[in-house]
Order: sequence, then C-alpha cells, then structure tokens
Amino acid sequence: MDHGFLHYPCSKQTTRLIWVFGISLVVVLTLQYSELPIFNSISLLLSGAKASFVRESYFSNANNTSFMQQDLKDSYSGVNGSSPKNSSEEREKNTQNGDLKKPKMETLPVMSISQMNEELKKSRSSLYSVTSQVSSLVDQQLLEAKSQIENAAFTNNDSGLYAPIYRNISTFKRSYEIMNRMLKVYIYKDGEKPIFHDWILEGIYASEGWFLKLMEENKQFVTEDPNEAHLFYVPFSSRLLELTLYVPHSHSRENLIQFMKNHTEMLISKYPFWNRTNGSDHFLTGCHDWAPAETRGRLLNTIRALCNADIRTGFKIGKDVSLPTTYVRSSKNPLKDIGGNPPTQRPILAFFAGHMHGYVRPVLLNHWGNDTDMRIFARMPHVKGNKNYIDHMKSSKYCICARGFAVHSPRVVESLIYDCVPVIISDNYVPPFFEVLNWESFAVFVLEKDIVNLKKVLLSISEEKYVEMYERVKKVKEQFFWHSEPVKYDLFHMILHSVWYNRVLRMKGI
Ligand SMILES: *[C@@H]1O[C@H](CO)[C@@H](O)[C@H](O)[C@H]1NC(C)=O
Ligand SMILES: *[C@@H]1O[C@H](CO)[C@@H](O)[C@H](O)[C@H]1NC(C)=O
Ligand SMILES: *[C@@H]1O[C@H](CO)[C@@H](O)[C@H](O)[C@H]1NC(C)=O
Ligand SMILES: *[C@@H]1O[C@H](CO)[C@@H](O)[C@H](O)[C@H]1NC(C)=O
Ligand SMILES: *[C@@H]1O[C@H](CO)[C@@H](O)[C@H](O)[C@H]1NC(C)=O
Ligand SMILES: *[C@@H]1O[C@H](CO)[C@@H](O)[C@H](O)[C@H]1NC(C)=O
Ligand SMILES: *[C@@H]1O[C@H](CO)[C@@H](O)[C@H](O)[C@H]1NC(C)=O
Ligand SMILES: *[C@@H]1O[C@H](CO)[C@@H](O)[C@H](O)[C@H]1NC(C)=O
Ligand SMILES: *[C@@H]1O[C@H](CO)[C@@H](O)[C@H](O)[C@H]1NC(C)=O
Ligand SMILES: *[C@@H]1O[C@H](CO)[C@@H](O)[C@H](O)[C@H]1NC(C)=O
Repeated sequence: MDHGFLHYPCSKQTTRLIWVFGISLVVVLTLQYSELPIFNSISLLLSGAKASFVRESYFSNANNTSFMQQDLKDSYSGVNGSSPKNSSEEREKNTQNGDLKKPKMETLPVMSISQMNEELKKSRSSLYSVTSQVSSLVDQQLLEAKSQIENAAFTNNDSGLYAPIYRNISTFKRSYEIMNRMLKVYIYKDGEKPIFHDWILEGIYASEGWFLKLMEENKQFVTEDPNEAHLFYVPFSSRLLELTLYVPHSHSRENLIQFMKNHTEMLISKYPFWNRTNGSDHFLTGCHDWAPAETRGRLLNTIRALCNADIRTGFKIGKDVSLPTTYVRSSKNPLKDIGGNPPTQRPILAFFAGHMHGYVRPVLLNHWGNDTDMRIFARMPHVKGNKNYIDHMKSSKYCICARGFAVHSPRVVESLIYDCVPVIISDNYVPPFFEVLNWESFAVFVLEKDIVNLKKVLLSISEEKYVEMYERVKKVKEQFFWHSEPVKYDLFHMILHSVWYNRVLRMKGI
C-alpha cells in the first residue's frame, strides 16, 4: 500500500528536532500501513536525506497517541542500528517487495490483464462452491438466479447504464435486478467492538468501514433469519484489528492471524451455517494491506473482498472481490472536489506524485522524472487542501497508478473521480469489480517491466481513442462514489453485487 498523495517538504528553517520527528513519523506510518521490509525502507528514507511530513488525516485514523509514541520511539531506535527481526514474516515481505535500496523489478511470474480475463472465464467452472448437503430453498433460488443471469435477454442502453464500460451489460443488469429483488444477508452478531461491528470512515482504508456501516444499517438486504440468507457476513475491520492487536515494534502480525483463525473456528463450531457450504456462502471485507494474511486458513473458502487484490498473495479471480481503495478525506462530504477539466484543457500528458515506496516507483522516477510532457514527482510542494496534487490530476490526460509496497493505491479511484484516465503499473493487481467491468475500455495497463516504454505507449494512443476513454471514465466514476444513503449502482451496491455475482455464478447446476 502507499499513502498516496503529497508529502510536505521541510523548510530550511526547520529545526533538527522536527527533522528527526518527520523521519520517525514516516517510519511509524510505514510500519503501520504496509507489508514492507521495514529496515530496507528505513535505509531508503535515510539515503533520501530529507524528511517528509505526512498528511494529518492519517492521524485521525490512529487516535491513540500512546500507541503512536511507542512506535515512534521504537522505530527510531530501529533507525539507529538495532538489528532487524528475522521472522518468517520479514523474509516473506522481503521476497515480495524486493530490495528497496537497489530497486529491482519483480522476477516472479506476472499475470497480464488478458490472462486475468482467461482466468475469470475458467474460474466459473473450476471454482464451484460446495452446495448444501440438504438442498434448500435458498439453493433453488440461487440456481434459478444463475440460470436467469446466464440467459439474460439483450439489454439496450435505455437502462441508463453505459454499455461500453461493462463486460456484458445484459448480464450485469439482470444480475443486479435479481440481487435487488432477492438477496438476503445474515450478519453474524458475534465479535466485539472495535474489531467487529465498528468502522473508520476516513483515510485510505475507509472502504471497508463504509461498507460495514452501510451493511449493518441496511434494511433491504439484511435478514435476522439465517435460514433465508444467501450470504453470511463476517463484519470485521482489518484496520481496527491492526490498531487494536498489533503489538508496537513486534514486527509481527502473527497474533492478528491467530485471532481471526480463532474467531472463525468459533463460528464454525457454534453455528450450523458454515458447514452447509464449507464457508463458500460467507464473505468479508478488508482494506488493510494485511487483510489477505488475516483471512488465510479456513477463511480462504469465503468470498474475500480485499483492497490488496494481489494474485500473488492468494487473491482468486472469480471468487474473491477486488475492493476499491478509496481515500476519503471527509466522511461528511466524500464527494468533495470531484470532476476535472475537459480533454482540451489537460495540457499534461501524464502525472504521478508520491513516496518512493516499493521497487516500481524509483524506476518510474529514474526514467521519467525529467520528462517535460509528463510530470513525475517524488514529492510536490504542499498547498492547502492538497490542491496542487488534485489540480494536477484534473489537468492531466493520464494519471499513473504505480504500486507502492502493495499492489493497490488510492490513485486508481482518484484518477476516475478527477476524470483522468488511469494508467495502472502494478503487476498482478486485479482491478475493482473485475468480474463486471471492462477495465481495458477506460484504463491503460502497463507491465512493470515496460516502464521504459511508458511514454511511447501513451503517445501511441490516438486523440480519438483517448477522448473515448475519457468519456468512459466519466461514466464509470459514479460507481465509485460513497453515499451516506446508498443509491443505485453506487459503491455500496457494486461491492455487494460483486460478492453476490461471484456466489451465484459458482453454484453448481443440478
Ligand atoms: C478514537 O477515540 C474515540 C474517543 O476516545 C473512540 O470513540 C474511537 O473509537 C477511537 N478510534 C479509534 C480508531 O481508536
Ligand atoms: C493505547 O495504546 C497503548 C499501547 O498499545 C495501550 O496500552 C492503551 O491501552 C491504548 N489506549 C487506549 C485508550 O486505547
Ligand atoms: C545512534 O547511536 C549512537 C551510539 O549509541 C549514538 O551516539 C548516536 O547519537 C545515535 N544516533 C541517533 C541519531 O540517535
Ligand atoms: C535468518 O533467516 C535465514 C533464513 O531462514 C537464516 O538462514 C538466517 O540464519 C537467519 N538469521 C538470523 C540472524 O537468525
Ligand atoms: C452477454 O450475455 C448474454 C447472456 O449470456 C449473451 O447472450 C450475450 O451474447 C453476451 N453478450 C456479449 C457481448 O458477450
Ligand atoms: C449505448 O451504447 C452505445 C455503444 O454500445 C454507445 O455508443 C451509446 O452512447 C450508449 N448510450 C447511452 C445512453 O449510454
Ligand atoms: C479464542 O476464542 C475463545 C472463545 O471462542 C476465547 O475464549 C479465547 O480467549 C480465544 N483465544 C484467543 C487466543 O483469542
Ligand atoms: C462443522 O464441521 C466440523 C468438522 O469439519 C465440526 O468440528 C463442527 O462441529 C461442525 N459444526 C457444527 C455446528 O456442527
Ligand atoms: C472444507 O474446506 C477445507 C479447507 O478450508 C478442506 O480442508 C475440507 O476438506 C473442506 N471440506 C469439505 C467437506 O469439502
Ligand atoms: C534529471 O535532471 C537532473 C538535474 O539536471 C540530473 O541530475 C539527473 O541526472 C537527471 N535524471 C535523469 C534520469 O536524466
């Protein structure tokens, strides 16, 4: 994950104390927000020899200052030569993220977007979920829904939907209608706040919070009767799990994984629901980078809606759902500032700004940092309200969404809401709502190894084609909006729909 956005460079007058504090903050945030090789990143920060301040909004997520202080102190002693832990976790992270000091490209296999499309087709037959031992009314309903979706009549676009952004508008529309009419979700009451039944609505992990809140408040889909439920929701927050149980400076998330395992085993033994389908009618949402790890073991059978939708950490196309990473600055007004300039008023070819997290961004900066048509920055001068950054997005044709430590970045949704065509440079990242949206119709995918050709790729797209993509971005963005009272086809409904769709299409016919 990355924190996206701008970093505030220290002014010349800044005292040494503040400088030190700045580094520590970055280290804390790095520790807390990412699956990273901690010590490599520290050396990178030091070699960068400049401290960055990070947006205040991150602090609104972590309001326990003593937690922060402890981590600060510890991280700082880490900076000054204490030896790194050699846990299996650290090793795993190191393999996954590469060496930050000498950024090198990923050598593991890469699944291109067209291979992902193939995988989606295959998944429909290979990922059948276990059907109930006793055929129930619910199963009959799901099989009937599947048949209707697969034989959906042709829909023209009088529906108000814009056909080109979907894989198949007829299927999507049909499935959405049936969901609206039929779907019932049972929410487990077990689990205590804050890890369960609680939410954070701001910051970069906000999407899990918004979904959980809107689901718990929902009247239409939620049922108190588990016998009529098509889906079972485990209402945990990966971010609050981390804030509550992560032991500062332990550099280990093992206890978080254990906690979820224990909770799952409790649900399996306490209720008959799990065993009916071995968990395949269960789902959860998690936006924190660690959520894929926290939902291993038996939870792998569930439909996991994850922001960190990385094939390499076990994301299953056709079963799991790619949850959009939405950076919500104000929960009162999540739609602030949306929109952007028309194509003729976008003089910048492509734009990127952000921390040099992970192995991809330094390569991007090295190749294109001095380009005059593209604006590729490590950091930008800060202007109140992030205006500079947002203005760049609103006046660039393409916005680069390069992975940080993890594959997902708030930039993908930001590009859409500021009408900027996203250029995704993040191998093995499955983009949001992959099962229904035709991403290639409104976004550009560039493999990490092809960063050297980035400009050539963008210049090879005709003006006509660009304008077409721009128009599609403007249509698709509405599906990435949070509303405190959900509206048709908004983010709440799109997430629920993808979970439903992956459940229904994996039903085995009789
Ligand atoms: C922050 O503190 C408030 C009040 O003390 C509490 O209600 C809230 O749950 C806390 N949030 C987090 C993320 O710990
Ligand atoms: C804050 O975090 C510290 C260290 O993890 C913990 O001991 C303390 O109980 C927490 N306080 C609150 C109010 O959550
Ligand atoms: C690092 O540790 C050494 C030896 O303990 C000490 O002299 C030095 O001041 C420390 N550096 C910082 C930046 O704290
Ligand atoms: C760290 O782990 C590696 C791989 O298991 C091992 O070879 C090495 O000896 C360990 N180093 C320390 C200091 O424990
Ligand atoms: C969309 O799905 C329907 C129903 O399965 C099918 O008849 C139609 O050919 C599909 N359209 C496209 C463009 O694939
Ligand atoms: C309907 O779809 C066609 C292409 O399939 C597109 O050109 C047209 O603009 C769409 N109309 C509406 C109202 O979305
Ligand atoms: C596991 O769950 C049980 C109750 O289901 C609880 O008593 C126990 O403390 C939990 N253990 C851990 C390590 O969380
Ligand atoms: C579900 O099956 C497991 C064995 O796989 C068993 O241990 C558990 O008790 C069963 N749960 C219920 C509620 O019967
Ligand atoms: C249920 O899933 C587990 C893996 O989570 C697997 O080991 C077990 O064999 C499955 N049980 C059935 C009945 O399919
Ligand atoms: C970019 O320009 C700076 C200043 O002129 C120079 O030091 C640097 O080497 C250039 N980088 C590249 C990749 O050309």
